[in-house]
Amino acid sequence: MPSIRYSATQKFLHWFIFLLVVLVYGLTYAEGLFERGDPGRDTVWWLHMSFGLLLLALVFVRVAVRVGSGAPEDVAGTSSLGHWAAHATHFALYVLLIAIPLSGIALAALRDMPLSFFGLFTLPAPLAPNRAAVPSVQEVHELLANLILVVAGLHALAALWHHYVRHDEVLRRMMPER
Ligand code: HEM
Ligand code: HEM
Repeated sequence: MPSIRYSATQKFLHWFIFLLVVLVYGLTYAEGLFERGDPGRDTVWWLHMSFGLLLLALVFVRVAVRVGSGAPEDVAGTSSLGHWAAHATHFALYVLLIAIPLSGIALAALRDMPLSFFGLFTLPAPLAPNRAAVPSVQEVHELLANLILVVAGLHALAALWHHYVRHDEVLRRMMPER
């Protein structure tokens, strides 16, 4: 019988990845805390990239778990248009969760910044440094990062609407069991 809830692994990955998106996005504002030339600025981007790479690795695990064990059945009581909108939003979120770090990796390589993962190892640069290409890739990376905030914001509003207005199981099945 198909499950009606997400598995503990799926819940953990959903909420941990949510926190990582907020942290990695929030870190971009920390640059402003340091003067130009202060090594604190490099540390901010080192953390941004390390946590961003962790996020990408966890998204791959999450997609593998999703493909392997699927999702619970749609909650009854929502129109087929509502289900379609939810599935399209989830798909868009997965695409953004992969495209943002990939554009970030491209940006770091073009800027000739080492792709260090918390100082443990450094990934090989997938592209040769190219200053001229930086502004357009930077714009794409920033645009996609802003887009995930909008899409995830609407997605969160929909989840809260299900919980507080429809009083159905949608939010509860993504919450830890009590
Ligand atoms: C969900 C994950 C991520 C989010 C939400 C995110 C978001 C952002 C945002 C909002 C900016 C500021 C855009 C700007 O004005 O320059 C930025 C810059 C940047 N990000 Fe990310 N990013 C993510 C992951 C990554 C990853 C994985 C890497 C590389 C490994 C990366 C590398 C960079 C670089 C190099 C910059 C520009 C730094 C500079 O201008 O000197 N990002 N990111
Ligand atoms: C960066 C922020 C977020 C991202 C990237 C994200 C991503 C996703 C994705 C991809 C799914 C689909 C899971 C699957 O079936 O494979 C999902 C499901 C879900 N998310 Fe989020 N989410 C975010 C934030 C939130 C927030 C803030 C809430 C609650 C207020 C929330 C509530 C839910 C719920 C309840 C589900 C299950 C929906 C259902 O059963 O159809 N999410 N999320």
